[in-house]
Amino acid sequence: MSAVNTYIGRKIHRASGRSVLPLGTGGLSGPAIQPLALAAVAAVCDAVHIPVIGVGGIVDAASARDFLIVGASAVQVGTGDVRHPRPPCRCLTVSG
Ligand SMILES: Cc1cc2nc3c(=O)[nH]c(=O)nc-3n(C[C@H](O)[C@H](O)[C@H](O)COP(=O)(O)O)c2cc1C
Repeated sequence: MSAVNTYIGRKIHRASGRSVLPLGTGGLSGPAIQPLALAAVAAVCDAVHIPVIGVGGIVDAASARDFLIVGASAVQVGTGDVRHPRPPCRCLTVSG
């Protein structure tokens, strides 16, 4: 299984006081959610005994390794690849 997806977010345009997103809320992803995702993945890994794919805010080897440390068997990169497309092996080579 994989964990997590995006977190619900809302942003207000300061000058107008209106919601930036047309529907009011949307999915927040990227580095901002990494600590939240890490806590959730750690809880899932403690609770189940099947392989878990850690997702949420991974942008480099260090942020990927965090998920392996808390018990994930693999990782997935979403926003990080959209922002800076590059070969995964270059982005996520984890050593040590
Ligand atoms: C451009 C984009 C498209 C996505 N499409 C889907 C989708 O179709 N279904 C889904 O369950 N999650 C989708 N996600 C959520 C990602 O799979 C991932 O769970 C989430 O973005 C958190 O990881 P990240 O911080 O590495 O982006 C999408 C994320 C992005 C940025």
